[in-house]
Amino acid sequence: MIKRAVIPTAGRGTRFMPATKAIPKAMIPIVDRPTVQYVVDEALESGIEEILIIISPNGEPVKHHFDDKPNIKFVVQTEARGLGAAIGLARDFCAGESFAVLLGDDVVYNAGRTALGQLIDAHEKFGGSIIGVQTVPREKVSSYGIAEGAQVEPRLIEVSRMVEKPNPDSVNSRLGILGRYVLNYGIFDAIDKTQPGKGGEIQLTDALEILSKSEKIYAYDFEGRRYDAGNKLGFLEAAVEYALRREDLGERFENYLRGLIKFK
Ligand code: G1P
Repeated sequence: MIKRAVIPTAGRGTRFMPATKAIPKAMIPIVDRPTVQYVVDEALESGIEEILIIISPNGEPVKHHFDDKPNIKFVVQTEARGLGAAIGLARDFCAGESFAVLLGDDVVYNAGRTALGQLIDAHEKFGGSIIGVQTVPREKVSSYGIAEGAQVEPRLIEVSRMVEKPNPDSVNSRLGILGRYVLNYGIFDAIDKTQPGKGGEIQLTDALEILSKSEKIYAYDFEGRRYDAGNKLGFLEAAVEYALRREDLGERFENYLRGLIKFK
């Protein structure tokens, strides 16, 4: 049973300047809920009982937002040293057990089982660490961690190699790691051994590559509409599509959009 989730939100938010000068990226709302709340809700819906949110030194608003939720704890990442370093701060919180990671910029919509829930199901069946992937277009390969491996059953790949933001010519896969993970506790020792990689940062993908030398890692091609809310276009797509799904404003918003397009 996976009971704990870690949600890193301490990125610099440079792609959202100047909005992120005073407000953490995680607090920018999609319709009327901060981005991080969609991610927290997905974790809770997947059966997670305790959450650790990694915040940056200006992350106080994230804390205030959840101050009525006793199952959410916070830790401050004082230096932006990379995603691997951020996850490394969760060692005590995870208390020797496997845990989930949901990246604060990756929002996934599912009418059925959540993306994380699908990974948890795969972990219960196969053990090992599970990374959530989807096929990305070739021009996006250099924006993500990429997993190579062999298909073992529908949607499940046994991973042989992972590379952070590779040149598309240097890998034989387009399976992008899209912000959902179930990790075995061994990842913490792997993080400790990880040298700075892409951008001079400690990369979680590099730590997973180290972990894969001693235990199995699977990639799960999860179902769901995933938004990269960390980039401007992805964020706008999320805002429009979540608004269209809302019972209280979907219809009116759709009429507005139709009128706007006709007018153009
Ligand atoms: C991070 C990870 C990368 C992953 C991506 C998913 O990159 O390092 O492996 O594919 O999130 O969104 P970032 O987007 O923080 O640069």
